[in-house]
Amino acid sequence: MSLNIAIDGPAGAGKSTIAKAVAAKLGFIYIDTGAMYRAVGLGAVRRGIDSSDAEGVISILDDLTITLKHTEAGQLIFLNGEDVSAEIRMPEISVAASNVAVIPAVRLKLVELQRELAQKDHVIMDGRDIGTYVLPNAQLKIFLTADPKARAERRLLELLEKGVNTTFDEVYEDMLYRDKNDSGREFAPLKPAEDSVMVDSTSMTLSETIDHITTLARQALEKN
Ligand code: CDP
Ligand code: CDP
Repeated sequence: MSLNIAIDGPAGAGKSTIAKAVAAKLGFIYIDTGAMYRAVGLGAVRRGIDSSDAEGVISILDDLTITLKHTEAGQLIFLNGEDVSAEIRMPEISVAASNVAVIPAVRLKLVELQRELAQKDHVIMDGRDIGTYVLPNAQLKIFLTADPKARAERRLLELLEKGVNTTFDEVYEDMLYRDKNDSGREFAPLKPAEDSVMVDSTSMTLSETIDHITTLARQALEKN
């Protein structure tokens, strides 16, 4: 049986950084499901389709082939064979990802791929609905949060380091928009699973958060 760990929470809480580190420590494969929604968002933007036009997005869905590759450096994501791992991180794609993520047909397509991956390997998967919908039987479910201003500050630093021209206000607005959109949608919204462990990383350093979640993971896996 493959072992699964789910990490859900809002943008900038530290999910992907922590999941990547814990996966390396435990020898699990890290799967970034947000990247898949970002790839669909990018596919829509490139074709000039408004990401909140559900009919338009559904009309191109069958033409979008999304594949993942796991390397020493982490997950790479391909859209119709092209490596789009860097391009999907642009701020305009964050909003497109959140908009296409409201559409049930988009979610069903990506969830099928996510479940397939989790069946094959020991995985740590991060996203918004992993503990509640994608992997309801995961051995450990973490809901990772942090204060919105702390999250925006972290994401701003990341973007500035990559050379993206943006401001705190822009990043903060984007996060508030996505938090609301992701929590308010009808199908598989962002919310803690009943059996999740809540972790608030607002005043924790990155290494404290990694250590805390690694300990929780080891405890949960020992029981299996
Ligand atoms: O995946 P998610 O959007 O939840 O967050 P992330 O991209 O992993 O983290 C955003 C940034 O916050 C990264 O640059 C992390 O290094 C940083 N971070 C931090 O400074 N302190 C924490 N306790 C957690 C994350
Ligand atoms: O890294 P960050 O937290 O900024 O976002 P992400 O994890 O890359 O996800 C981008 C968007 O995809 C989110 O704002 C959600 O709308 C959507 N998403 C989702 O709906 N369900 C998931 N399991 C993962 C992401």
